[in-house]
Amino acid sequence: MEMKDLVSFAVAKGFVYQGSEIYGGLANAWDYGPNGALLKENLKNLWIKHFVQKRSDMVLLDAAILMNPQTWVTSGHVGGFSDPLMDCKSCKQRLRADKLVEEYVEATGDAEMPAEWAGESTPAANLTAYIAKKGIKCPNCGGTDFSDIKKFNLMFKTFQGVTEDSTATVYLRPETAQGIFVNFSNVVRTSRKKVPFGIAQVGKAFRNEITPKNFIFRTREFEQMEIEFFCEPESIAPGKHLEWHEAWKTVCWNFLTKTVGLKEDLMRFRNHGPDELSFYSAATTDIEFYFPFGWGELWGIADRTDYDLSAHMKESKADLAYFDPFTNQKYVPFVIEPSLGLNRLMLVTLISAYDEVDSGEGKRVVLRFKPEVAPVKVAVLPLVKKLSEEAKKVYDLLSDHFVCEYDDAGAIGKRYYRMDEIGVPFSICVDSENFEAGQVTVRDRDTGLQETVKMDDLVEYFRKKGC
Ligand code: GAP
Repeated sequence: MEMKDLVSFAVAKGFVYQGSEIYGGLANAWDYGPNGALLKENLKNLWIKHFVQKRSDMVLLDAAILMNPQTWVTSGHVGGFSDPLMDCKSCKQRLRADKLVEEYVEATGDAEMPAEWAGESTPAANLTAYIAKKGIKCPNCGGTDFSDIKKFNLMFKTFQGVTEDSTATVYLRPETAQGIFVNFSNVVRTSRKKVPFGIAQVGKAFRNEITPKNFIFRTREFEQMEIEFFCEPESIAPGKHLEWHEAWKTVCWNFLTKTVGLKEDLMRFRNHGPDELSFYSAATTDIEFYFPFGWGELWGIADRTDYDLSAHMKESKADLAYFDPFTNQKYVPFVIEPSLGLNRLMLVTLISAYDEVDSGEGKRVVLRFKPEVAPVKVAVLPLVKKLSEEAKKVYDLLSDHFVCEYDDAGAIGKRYYRMDEIGVPFSICVDSENFEAGQVTVRDRDTGLQETVKMDDLVEYFRKKGC
């Protein structure tokens, strides 16, 4: 599948629209249409159910997007959250030096990397030397004359209040995680949770990405679902944090394969090597997905040690140390951070569910969402238009419990296919004979099999199916 085909399909079926389209759009801004908004909401709710509701060791938080700007100085984002940029002197194209290197290595299979290679954090001089040595060309014009590399900070800045000077500068958060760290002691105090426990948060994050691309894979405005799971530090329980890191890898993998229903053969773990690891991280693993453009990060699972809490403690002078009532010891916990992009999860859910079948009249698309994930759970279709009143009664009965779709336009077969295309797992056909007997027929999207179900049992029937 090519990304452009997926984009056309997603736009045509009301999953995603180009942002501000009537004004010519805004680069890489996407709006979520009726089916996309529901799909995204379902994925978010499944994540909350799986990681908060079903676990006694997790709580939910909703911190503000705008935070005291000192937060971002302490976290290292003001000083270090930047991309290495350079300009092609011939065509003036602005390029990310680290991406140019990655694309070159991928295309040529060259095993040599720049010295001290660490993606966007690689020293600029080493990137420059490597690009010159390999004769890497500008992908736009083929030129090889580049400007010096400059660091470009990815945070969006704005002003709070009426003055527009540096004292009023605030940032749109580039990650939700820091809202969790600064609230650590509030949550400990008010939730009475004991280490090991975790705080989960879903919310918008903003990054002024230089090369946003690949549809909703990388955008400037996106949503993150992040967990900070606090556990005993190395000094208290040697190696325990690494065990937790391993455990979270499995939990996250199972959420994707069993709860969301992603295809396992499109996924893999990738451990960060010593070169790539942040200086404070004890281990980091990405769950990668095979996108139409190749393997890419879906979910980062990092062992961040006590770096963030210690840094905030030092800077704010607040006591963020944890007192363990069982051992009477006081310590700064280590943290495991599974961080997932909601929009990226929606993209992989669409890719994984996408299927084409030959109906005899050409190819048609079926989205094979799990019922739990599907934006619309049940379609209510009168066999013929004159049964619309009866069908609307069925719709009213079910729409109290599930998101349903009503459709009476066109032949019944065509209507089934329309529902298959947006991934509706079950379609009800209302015909007069069954209706009078207090029942309807239910068609299963994936098997095409039809079953007669009593109207009184319908809600329970769909509940059992996972709707
Ligand atoms: N707190 C850690 C953190 O933010 P990250 O690897 O930068 O780590 C975590 O981001 C996840 O957020 C990524 O794995 C990805 O799913 C998602 N993400 C990051 N940048 C994104 C962007 N520009 N657009 C969409 N999703 C993004």
